[in-house]
Amino acid sequence: MENVAKPIAVGLLGLGTVGSGVVKIIENHQDQLIHQVGCPVVVKKILVRDVYKERDVQVNTSLLTTRADEVINDPEIDVIIEVMGGIEETRRHLLQALQQGKHVVTANKDLMALYGSELLATATENGCDLFYEASVAGGIPILRSLVEGLASDRITKMMGIVNGTTNFILTKMCKYGMPYEQVLAEAQALGYAEADPSADVEGLDAARKMAILARLGFSMNIDLEDVQVKGITDITEEDLDYSKRLGYTMKLIGIAHRDGDKAEVSVQPTLLPDSHPLASVSDEYNAVYVYGEAVGETMFYGPGAGSLPTATAVVSDLVAVMKNMRLGVNGRSAVAPQYEKRLKSRSEIFSKYFVRIHVKDEVGAFAKITAIFAEQGVSFEKILQLPLKEKGLAEIVIVTHRASQQAYEDILQRLRDLEIVHQVKSSYRVEGNGN
Ligand code: NAP
Ligand code: HSE
Repeated sequence: MENVAKPIAVGLLGLGTVGSGVVKIIENHQDQLIHQVGCPVVVKKILVRDVYKERDVQVNTSLLTTRADEVINDPEIDVIIEVMGGIEETRRHLLQALQQGKHVVTANKDLMALYGSELLATATENGCDLFYEASVAGGIPILRSLVEGLASDRITKMMGIVNGTTNFILTKMCKYGMPYEQVLAEAQALGYAEADPSADVEGLDAARKMAILARLGFSMNIDLEDVQVKGITDITEEDLDYSKRLGYTMKLIGIAHRDGDKAEVSVQPTLLPDSHPLASVSDEYNAVYVYGEAVGETMFYGPGAGSLPTATAVVSDLVAVMKNMRLGVNGRSAVAPQYEKRLKSRSEIFSKYFVRIHVKDEVGAFAKITAIFAEQGVSFEKILQLPLKEKGLAEIVIVTHRASQQAYEDILQRLRDLEIVHQVKSSYRVEGNGN
């Protein structure tokens, strides 16, 4: 029989997709938790919007409340688990909890991307832990891997598929030709999408996660507004077809890259060579590719969303808090950024690009287009020209060699201004293989 100490009482803010999973894991893995931390875990109070709602998990209704202060101010509650989402109201709850000396575990990337520095400073001031593993890539323990597993290395590049909803949508559109709206509805029904799915499809959710990753990986105070963002809503069937024909897979990719002391962070639909380690990451799965100067290439893969996978990360953070409580070392893990933030300018960011253009099908059109690329010193890696059904128009698809973002954007502008160009239909970043 184990020597079991007094239970740790937990207050939950939210009992939706993730909150239900947290309750299930705490109940189903209670023996394992006792073995690891030496005491049981009890969920003492749960904040919800509607106490009468039917739920995926059975809880005693006396635990439910619609009043946040009944959870946050309960003197017997040691740890607040925040899985309600939202920003301003949630920030106030968590500041209040930390100021009362309660440890906090959160899955909320919206909040951590915007107010992470403030919340972590408040946690440290009050001797509290604030852990947020579930906020990036759901069930993948990527934050702990960056700050502990790779603590001795200098990380120079992170590339991530960090939004399960968009990966699910792109996979179903590419593999099965399913329409965008139908797959988005499926992702919502499966609990992958945010309450407002525009945050997923417009790239904001992934941008928040990349800001958190870049801040930890590069030890630099990267803000959400430092991330260049483009979502998946403009991707067409034609783009996906060309991408396949040219040997690429279209993914929404977050890239954080540092050269010397300067960093770039972006989220955008990207064409990956089929042989790229991230190209085979399908459905709602996430993966983060990390390059460290000493370790070389590493990749972390797993479910990026969903009830139980995300709850695993939340409860693992709870275990970390409880271990710290036992050792009496809470509030000592947050480390201030080591480097001053320096961001690359557009002329310092390099990539290959895919562009699809509709042009008038007339003598000399092609030469005018190639001249614009040549004047900017950008050469072609692949090129296709095909007739279109629309009379008098042709489609040109180009994949460039590496060019600066500045040079490429200037080319796009000049193409749009060209009389023979009917429309620049689409444009995407193209990655090479691995690092
Ligand atoms: P959800 O299913 O919408 O659940 C939210 C829960 O919080 C519900 O129980 C809701 O109460 C409660 N709630 C929300 N606002 C409230 C308020 N103002 N007052 C009282 N209760 C409130 O959300 P979720 O998918 O579990 O996501 C929770 C958090 O985890 C979010 O920050 C999300 O970004 C993050 N996250 C989610 C996933 C995922 O796969 N879903 C993965 C990683 C991270 P009612 O039930 O009464 O409506
Ligand atoms: N909506 C998010 C996603 C949930 O699809 O990845 C996990 O953060």
